Amino acid sequence: MKRSFRYLFIIAVSFFVGTFGVLVDDGQLCLAGDKAVAQAQQAGGSSSTAGEQPASLGIPQQSLPGYPAQGVRTGVFNDGQAALWDLHIIDHFRYFGPAQRARGHRPEQPINFSHIVHVQGNKMECQYCHWNVSKSPYAAIPDVELCMGCHKMVGSADPAANAEIEKLKQYWAKGEPIPWKKVHVMPDYLRFNHKRHVKGGVTCHECHGQVGEMPVVERVSSMKMGWCIDCHRQRGTSIDCATCHH
Ligand code: HEC
Ligand code: HEC
Ligand code: HEC
Ligand code: HEC
Ligand code: HEC
Repeated sequence: MKRSFRYLFIIAVSFFVGTFGVLVDDGQLCLAGDKAVAQAQQAGGSSSTAGEQPASLGIPQQSLPGYPAQGVRTGVFNDGQAALWDLHIIDHFRYFGPAQRARGHRPEQPINFSHIVHVQGNKMECQYCHWNVSKSPYAAIPDVELCMGCHKMVGSADPAANAEIEKLKQYWAKGEPIPWKKVHVMPDYLRFNHKRHVKGGVTCHECHGQVGEMPVVERVSSMKMGWCIDCHRQRGTSIDCATCHH
């Protein structure tokens, strides 16, 4: 009798926390841990988690004039969740599982490269840089040569931004690739294919969110199996195991 009460208690608590997590987080309020990070970001200071993020440059980190800020998660399929009733904590590996599979994962990059500056500021198309997304299973990160096409000439009036561009030039001078950290890390057994999605009319933001609004690229979706399959069902695409698994 006692034991069944204990189970009931655990179920009730997980249900409450899970549901509460979904509702509150989506309303931009967050659970205690996130709140601390958000506050630290607003204050421009560093907490233990915010410390992982690169210091802000003197460049606009918000949306530029003429580009209404929508929020980085806008347009993500099913808000990045495997199912509407997903328990938030479990689905996003917020407290369990590897950090790089968590929603919100954004590793510090070797160069403070901002998609805001390039996508909004310079009106560059995603495929100008990630040029092979429509041609291959992988979406390449552009190599130094492509960057130098502009940055041989283009510097910045802002010293902080210019220091970042200097770093880029040093990699170019050394003939080394930039050691970008991967933001979306998927298990090895997974077979993903960009080309099929891009050709099939699935847009970048349905999976990656509003990258053009991200000062540092972050993962906006759990990208769990249920999430992939949910969309495949809706759009009448194969949900055969071998479609996605080797
Ligand atoms: C000026 C070139 C450039 C443009 C334009 C650009 N990107 Fe990027 N993108 C990069 C570079 C460099 C990286 C690697 C560094 C980083 O993660 O910030 C990157 C990283 C990413 C990543 C994370 C990859 C990972 O490691 O998992 C995604 C997703 C992405 N870009 C999507 C987009 C989308 C969507 C657009 C259009 C809205 C876009 N990019 C436009 C250069 C560009
Ligand atoms: C089409 C031309 C073009 C290309 C290609 C380009 N950039 Fe830029 N980049 C610019 C311009 C313009 C600025 C803004 C300079 C300023 O502040 O006035 C800029 C700013 C920057 C800055 C400083 C501001 C910031 O983003 O933090 C960095 C760093 C940078 N670029 C890195 C890169 C890298 C890395 C690549 C290759 C993936 C790249 N750029 C490709 C035009 C380009
Ligand atoms: C159906 C969902 C989906 C769509 C649509 C999508 N991506 Fe991705 N993207 C992913 C997944 C999943 C990964 C991780 C792949 C891996 O690690 O195997 C990824 C990884 C990336 C990477 C890192 C390099 C790589 O291939 O691992 C870049 C860059 C990127 N995407 C850019 C884009 C751009 C630009 C678009 C739009 C033209 C786009 N993606 C559309 C799901 C998507
Ligand atoms: C927003 C919707 C959406 C999401 C999310 C999505 N897919 Fe897809 N996927 C599609 C569509 C639509 C197609 C069919 C494109 C076409 O017409 O060929 C497709 C096709 C594919 C294919 C090729 C199928 C074939 O027949 O060869 C693979 C592999 C695939 N998806 C894997 C994934 C994986 C893995 C994920 C999760 C990380 C994922 N997809 C998430 C919409 C989606
Ligand atoms: C649309 C793509 C897609 C299809 C179809 C699909 N899977 Fe998956 N599967 C995934 C993704 C993405 C993951 C990684 C989930 C994660 O890391 O949380 C995964 C993970 C798994 C895992 C978990 C492995 C682990 O270590 O946790 C198993 C087991 C699995 N799939 C079995 C299947 C079976 C059986 C089928 C056929 C009924 C199937 N999958 C069909 C995308 C797919």
